[in-house]
Amino acid sequence: MKVTDLFKKYDVPAPRYTSYPTVPYWSDNPTTQDWLDSVSSGLKSAESSWSLYLHIPFCETLCTFCGCNTSITKNHKLENPYSQRLLQEIDLYLKNCPELLKRPLKSLHLGGGTPTFLSAANLKSLLQPLLSKVRRGSEFEASVEVDPRRTSQEQLETLASLGFNRVSLGVQDFDSEVQRLINRVQPFAMTKTITDQSRALGFASINFDLIYGLPKQTLDSITDMAQKTIELRPDRIALYSFALVPWIKPAQRLFKDDDVPQGQAKRELYERARDLLLNAGYQEIGMDHFALESDSLSKAHQSGKLHRNFMGYTDQKTEVMIGLGVSAIGESPTCFHQNEKILTRYEERIDALKLPTLRGHKLSKDDQTYRQQILELMCTGKVSLLDQDQVNDIKTYLAPMLADQLLILQENQLQVLPEGKPFLRNACMAFDKRLREKSPHTRIFSQAL
Ligand SMILES: C[S@@+](CC[C@H](N)C(=O)[O-])C[C@H]1O[C@@H](n2cnc3c(N)ncnc32)[C@H](O)[C@@H]1O
Ligand code: SF4
Repeated sequence: MKVTDLFKKYDVPAPRYTSYPTVPYWSDNPTTQDWLDSVSSGLKSAESSWSLYLHIPFCETLCTFCGCNTSITKNHKLENPYSQRLLQEIDLYLKNCPELLKRPLKSLHLGGGTPTFLSAANLKSLLQPLLSKVRRGSEFEASVEVDPRRTSQEQLETLASLGFNRVSLGVQDFDSEVQRLINRVQPFAMTKTITDQSRALGFASINFDLIYGLPKQTLDSITDMAQKTIELRPDRIALYSFALVPWIKPAQRLFKDDDVPQGQAKRELYERARDLLLNAGYQEIGMDHFALESDSLSKAHQSGKLHRNFMGYTDQKTEVMIGLGVSAIGESPTCFHQNEKILTRYEERIDALKLPTLRGHKLSKDDQTYRQQILELMCTGKVSLLDQDQVNDIKTYLAPMLADQLLILQENQLQVLPEGKPFLRNACMAFDKRLREKSPHTRIFSQAL
């Protein structure tokens, strides 16, 4: 089959599989106590460890491509009360779940929104007490998402002095017209300055977030994006597929749906950037990540230790992840948990000294099995099937992809062939029993490609 036809055939809505079951299919809601119990039992083994995600929702302006949980405001008076509530929330966890004090904290990630919405002084008054409350492991790592438009040398110095060793810069695209259309004007010099400052401060790993498929991106503009990236040589790159989010009202956007590259034209943008990055010494990792050989993500990829969680691919696997802050998600071996998504509700629950559980999902035995298989497929490109019944089921469900030579099934192992890489999300859908049992009534997932 011609490549063009393959792209038409498989460009269907598909989850990104940062979790299984995917969030729209969470159904068996845990109580706060169920969630805490699952955290405790996940940390039973002496070798277990946990990670912490802190969500800072605030952004000064709205980038009109953005699908993150944000709160757009210029009111910096919000910084201090929000930080106080994060400290209150970690206290609630430590009081109700003593295992968190017994086991090492392996990683801390500060995400958003915009973590550098907080001033250097407020970053310090949040993070110093927080880190003093927990037991950091010997391999402890701390990372932060920074928006170069809203980051100062002082903030980077503060984060470095607090032990942060990884920094992720939101770049998206270097093209000035694309930037104008997404309401995110960020000159190359600004990104370069933050990259240089981070390097000079000794951050061990610098990541760029880039996106392909943004409005009015062309093969020329994506070539320029890749070349500018190569010039600054971040250790890691996330090259995300643009997910057009319908909840951003057209009136707030400067672009039309027709300006957004689709299907094969979109894939060609990815492939152009990928070829240039591979030529420059980057390795392709999983679906949409790249890293230099020296970076720990490449090493984890090579040694089969790559993991995937809500933030994408990582080399920092832990049994439990606790998410603090409005809308933050956490996970344990048997449960997912999300905090209240509305700021005032989150505040009320914390002020009443309660964990702000909004929803979650208690994983059934089947969920746990398919979660593991999807994870394997997403991280290694292959997966062992359970038994002959599953072999027969996969043969039937994935018959078109097997016939199109995108996948190969040998005995009980399913493997994605190089031609099949763009269709990894489609292959994972075979293991998504919940989606297969009940397809969504409305459009909830972005396109697979
Ligand atoms: C929380 S944001 C980044 C942090 C920081 N606020 C910034 O903008 O620099 C995390 C990343 O998600 C990615 N992202 C957000 N919305 C997206 C969308 N609709 N499609 C694809 N990627 C998206 C962007 O690359 C973004 O940098
Ligand atoms: S891309 Fe970053 S700065 Fe822009 S709206 Fe999203 S979270 Fe905020």
